[in-house]
Amino acid sequence: MNAKAYASLAPYTTFHIGGPARFLIEAHNDEDIKDTIAFARDQHLPLCPLGGGSNLLVRDQGVEGVVLWVKFDGITFEINEDETLCIAGAGVPWDTVVDAVGARGIFGIENLAGIPGTVGGAAVQNIGAYGAELAQVFAYADTINMVTGEHGRIEVTDAAFAYRTSLFKQRHDLLITQVAVRLKKNAKPNFSYADLSQVVRSGALLATSIEIARAVRSIRAQKFPQDPEEGTAGSFFKNPIISLELSASLSKHFPGLPTFPQPDGQVKIALAWVLDHVLSLKGYSTGEVRLYEKQPLVIVARPPATAADVDTFAQDIAERVFKTIGVSIEREVETFGEFLS
Ligand code: EPU
Repeated sequence: MNAKAYASLAPYTTFHIGGPARFLIEAHNDEDIKDTIAFARDQHLPLCPLGGGSNLLVRDQGVEGVVLWVKFDGITFEINEDETLCIAGAGVPWDTVVDAVGARGIFGIENLAGIPGTVGGAAVQNIGAYGAELAQVFAYADTINMVTGEHGRIEVTDAAFAYRTSLFKQRHDLLITQVAVRLKKNAKPNFSYADLSQVVRSGALLATSIEIARAVRSIRAQKFPQDPEEGTAGSFFKNPIISLELSASLSKHFPGLPTFPQPDGQVKIALAWVLDHVLSLKGYSTGEVRLYEKQPLVIVARPPATAADVDTFAQDIAERVFKTIGVSIEREVETFGEFLS
């Protein structure tokens, strides 16, 4: 086990921003985790798991803790009569799993192609895109309790998945080591999402999961910054879920607002549309931080922007939204190192 002291975390995030970890340790297996738990206890520091850093804003002051870079690897398949389980290490890039499943001609996660981050992060966040969500295929996650060192398994029924959240967001003591996704033999392609159905209407051949994944990646390439100089964590905010009454009143004031009824009777509204058509904030910037011109839900930062700059900018956006439509928006991106005083 190699503990790097004061390791800059910026290169470990897709924002390319943030201060150092008091200690950074790579964990490839159970033994590494055991050693890291003991090390953190000796140092009287909290343990903080890090995956692909694709949904994180690391504070400029860094993290006064032991950051555990989860590197569990490996992908295996368990083939049963009417389904296949794909079991992947928590440190495997999610998109590698999409490719591995596609290469076997199996449908089920192709709409989730091109999402940055690791398998572990995908479960924590319940990633979703183009009409699909990890929760729909998640079978279980194997975990290690970072306090007791105990091994465990969380089945889908206990994972408390909802829009961009899961049990793993509340249970900070649980570290995911591997995730199994359940891919049904009779799964069919899902072209319900507008961006994808448009590709289908254009006559593109989308017969295999590999072709669909390719189409999804090309849609994403048009919506997310491609310049390696620019940092981003994808959608910075969640789409708000509001009451039916408020949604009806907003739709009256702002005709065209995309609304998505939820199973519980509430309504999800498209914040990108609000930022674009109501607030005209596409491309709006403060210093080197801005709302992306092609997708205003995405915050982009260029050097020398700091985490504090991004944070202040995001607060500004949230206040503008609240003042205009009376809705408090929540961040999708997590702040890393919040426990630092
Ligand atoms: N829109 C505009 N102007 C724009 C862009 C979008 O008005 O410049 C409107 C359009 O009407 C569009 C609607 O906003 O129908 C929604 O936009 P989009 O389809 O791009 O999706 P989104 O709701 O902004 C969500 C996820 C993304 C995911 C896409 C595609 C959240 C917070 N974000 O974005 O996930 O890729 O749908 O499924 O739910 C992420 O979580 O980091 C992420 C990128």
